[in-house]
Amino acid sequence: MRKQSSRDCCSDDRASDRVRINPALERIIAQRFSRRDILKLAAGLGGLTLLRPVAAMSRDRAEISGSTLTFPEVRRGADANLHVAEGYRAEVLIRWGDPILSESMPFDPLRQSAASQSASFGYNNDFLGFVPFPGQDHRAMLLVNHEFTQGAMMFPGSPAAKDLSKEQVDIEIAAHGASLVELERESGRWKVCRGSIFNRRISPWTPMRFDGPAAGSARLHTPYSKSGYASQGTYANCGGGLTPWGTVLSAEENIHFYFYGSAEAGVEAENHSRLGIQSTEDPRFHWGRFYERWNLDKNPREPLHVGWIVEIDPFDPESIPVKHTALGRFKHEACSLHINRDGRLVVFLGDDQYFEYIYRYVSNGCFKPNDCENNRQLLRVGVLSVAEFKDDGALIWHPLEYGRGPLTATNGFHCQADVLIDTRKAADLVGATPMDRPEDVEVNPMSGEVFVMLTKNPKRGASQVNRANPRAGNTAGHIVTLKAPDKDYAFSEFRWEIFLLAGDPDEREPASRYPAGLAREGWFQNPDNCTFDREGRLWLATDGNQEPGEADGVWACDTDGPARAITRRFIRLPFGAEATGPCFSPDHQTFFLSVQHPGDGSSFDDPSTRWPDFDSALPPRPAVIAVYRDDNGVVGS
Ligand code: FEO
Ligand code: CA
Ligand code: CA
Ligand code: CA
Repeated sequence: MRKQSSRDCCSDDRASDRVRINPALERIIAQRFSRRDILKLAAGLGGLTLLRPVAAMSRDRAEISGSTLTFPEVRRGADANLHVAEGYRAEVLIRWGDPILSESMPFDPLRQSAASQSASFGYNNDFLGFVPFPGQDHRAMLLVNHEFTQGAMMFPGSPAAKDLSKEQVDIEIAAHGASLVELERESGRWKVCRGSIFNRRISPWTPMRFDGPAAGSARLHTPYSKSGYASQGTYANCGGGLTPWGTVLSAEENIHFYFYGSAEAGVEAENHSRLGIQSTEDPRFHWGRFYERWNLDKNPREPLHVGWIVEIDPFDPESIPVKHTALGRFKHEACSLHINRDGRLVVFLGDDQYFEYIYRYVSNGCFKPNDCENNRQLLRVGVLSVAEFKDDGALIWHPLEYGRGPLTATNGFHCQADVLIDTRKAADLVGATPMDRPEDVEVNPMSGEVFVMLTKNPKRGASQVNRANPRAGNTAGHIVTLKAPDKDYAFSEFRWEIFLLAGDPDEREPASRYPAGLAREGWFQNPDNCTFDREGRLWLATDGNQEPGEADGVWACDTDGPARAITRRFIRLPFGAEATGPCFSPDHQTFFLSVQHPGDGSSFDDPSTRWPDFDSALPPRPAVIAVYRDDNGVVGS
């Protein structure tokens, strides 16, 4: 793993986008990415919304009644295994500890080392960013976020966080961040190319830099970043998105778990409080015991270096990832990009916490398919807004701009950097609507509706109910759709409506709402990450559908026609696991899914499941799966 060194910590100049790379690699990249390829890449990106006319969709469906989804639903229940709908098979693509760099060692849970973990697949895989090599349907880069670690499931004896050795803490740190792996498809099946020159591990030590209005702010000065332009690493990476120019965006989410020392006394006490960073003797991660970087008494501004959206180039393993301050700082989950009809880039963002907000960023400039330099500016200069949901069905986007409305010195804002570093505080002041924990936000490529997953909010009281968050004690979550007028996603006002209220239809509280026709297997709760297939059907993953006898998994439904919002269960996960990062290959013959924290709630020595290996010498291992139809047809058709 990368150790702290003066070179890493203080390389604080305004670094260029890329460092010089070796000539052989440059040649390969040049061969593989002509300017024409960039256009093809944009067309192939599953996560980028390219709208198809609704009329075409309606014609396709006109003769079909009921759901267009044909798979038989997986039965309800919970056990140690993963279940996928009959007619499909799930194969493990990569799992925690699998070697990815040429110097990595085979996984041995009893002989783990930070060096080996630094060259191997990290823990708790989350968002999946699948980026095809331009013009090659059998090769792709996959970026996988590694959100967090769990000592109880990773190490023999299940040590508490405060009892981890320094080597174990170094393993934890190395298992965070992201993995980039090259995939190749042979005989219809995707495989990881171990040792590919494109493979890379990103960790909390990887040199990064800031751009946008907060780059260089005095508030970002730390012992490791003398001018506030350099940053070090990324962690708590949860959701993400794809750009039209072939890079991947990774979202820093639960940053509050990582800090030692006094949060209430330092120069950024108000900011820490608003982000949930509190003084505690026993934080979830004890990295601050070994590294002053995570000790607030020594380095009170370190938390300001996380909570951003990070851009990573999957095709240049030497590139320096960029933290885009223009997209604001909070507990980022969603990061969905859409090219507006006028060419501007629109990004939808969610802040994943009870009573937090939904944001939208609109670039000043326009996307130009053949102009990478132009496009890289799009996430630097633009306007971040936050959503207010009116009870009459209107949604108002409030711009968060220094000097506008309450965002002035009177309220502690002295420049745009302050607005972006204190995004939540700015959003509070302009009247944003506190939502029931915003997770994913995605644009339906067929209808153009924006789907918002609100995972739950049991803390919402009866007096806090509104029409967009209509249930007190919302333990089950719901889905809201947004409509942009004339598909102008940069417009200041949208309309919204409820798509469904999740939960068990047999339970009175919270009362669910689905259309008639839902099967017993079809209800779910706690929608989290989602994606759309090319027919515009919604595929959603759940986090929290784990009452006794229940399990998390994947559900899918039509988004128009007679079966709109009638969800059907496609995958059921093993004990303790959460479903994250669903995405399709461009040909839709493969559905990828991250299976996070299998066995959660048990222990390394006595796990509730040993998925996916079922080897008594191995603990359960978070893994990415690839799901295929038995006849290799299009998933869901
Ligand atoms: Fe890491 Fe929003 O879940
Ligand atoms: Ca998530
Ligand atoms: Ca997403
Ligand atoms: Ca979640």
